[in-house]
Amino acid sequence: MTTYSIAVIPGDGIGNEVVPEAQRVLEAASRIGGFSFDWTHYDWSCERFAKTGAMMPADGLDQIRGKDSIFLGAVGFPGVPDHVSLWGLLIPIRRSFQQYVNLRPVKLLAGVESPLKGREAGSIDFYVVRENNEGEYSSIGGRLYEGLEDELVMQQSIFTRRGCDRVMRYAFELAKGRKQHVTSATKSNGISHTMPYWDERFAAISTEYPGFTTDQYHIDILTAHFVRNPDWFDVVVASNLFGDILSDLGPAVVGSIGIAPGGNINPEKDYPSMFEPVHGSAPDIAGKGVANPIGQIWSGAMMLRHLGEEATASAIEQAIEDVLARRDSLTRDLGGTAGTRELTDAIIGALPSSAA
Ligand code: NAD
Ligand code: IPM
Ligand code: MN
Repeated sequence: MTTYSIAVIPGDGIGNEVVPEAQRVLEAASRIGGFSFDWTHYDWSCERFAKTGAMMPADGLDQIRGKDSIFLGAVGFPGVPDHVSLWGLLIPIRRSFQQYVNLRPVKLLAGVESPLKGREAGSIDFYVVRENNEGEYSSIGGRLYEGLEDELVMQQSIFTRRGCDRVMRYAFELAKGRKQHVTSATKSNGISHTMPYWDERFAAISTEYPGFTTDQYHIDILTAHFVRNPDWFDVVVASNLFGDILSDLGPAVVGSIGIAPGGNINPEKDYPSMFEPVHGSAPDIAGKGVANPIGQIWSGAMMLRHLGEEATASAIEQAIEDVLARRDSLTRDLGGTAGTRELTDAIIGALPSSAA
């Protein structure tokens, strides 16, 4: 029997509530595929930072390098500045393990109400492919003339040819099995070096995929189209910051950030990939047992697909869809009254009988 060795990092806030629930679903579903998990739990978090001054140990990355995957909840909590907690844990994992694709599906499912008028289940179905290792997120910059009238800060964006090309190729490969339509998010009218370069690489990579439909929109109007015309999109490729924004807006348009999954993927499988929901630690609802576990559970399904367990991944996604469509065990963010555990139990109950 195959055993997958998984690093589990619940992190902060509701991460501690939704991760164990998602593990229960994955354990139950593993019977479908006839495999098992070897979970290793890591307490890396803002709580650890408060005790030790570090989000993870100095050799943290080495501890998880050999795992098959990393299953993460959320990082960041009031008390530790966000840039300190995130650059101390989440971002080093994404970068050290070359997880250069942040794959975030946006799909309107039956039973979930879109805030947009008249949108039917299935009518919105696309992927945001976010560049995850470079771009506007950089540690290069600094402050000058601190405390003076002339005080200034600078932050450098980095766009490499390798970085642009590989994430764009991933987007085209993903579109190959779909509608063969790739949209690029840009801002080359206002940002005069990096974004024209992004457009140039998009045009170059497009030529490798004859017959595909391509288009590009400046990020400002693209956000408007996400709201007005979300049915236009199939695969949307974006830089790190633009992809971050689009991947919160997309889930809002299809109902709730609480159900949005994500994968930080190293497509070559040279390093472990990391699966985590799009949402954060939600300090406003943490500890109340009301967080929606679906984003975490669906991220678990994406992890199984990446590991090659397609049938089990699909079974979990089907169970999520069935429970959403029934609308009898939904959490508050979806208009229900169920708690985290109740919704998880319903999903486990909806798995094929070989697994429940
Ligand atoms: P957030 O996603 O944590 O919360 C935004 C809103 O959505 C809140 O009202 C919250 O209650 C709600 N929400 C989020 N997840 C939910 C769920 N599963 N069920 C029901 N409601 C849910 O975003 P934020 O408030 O901007 O960030 C809080 C902290 O999380 C910050 O420290 C931030 O840096 C961090 N963060 C981490 C990640 C990550 O680890 N990948 C992602 C986003 C934010
Ligand atoms: C996300 C988050 C992170 C990001 C933050 C917390 C650094 O918003 O995973 O989308 O911007 O990548
Ligand atoms: Mn985000």
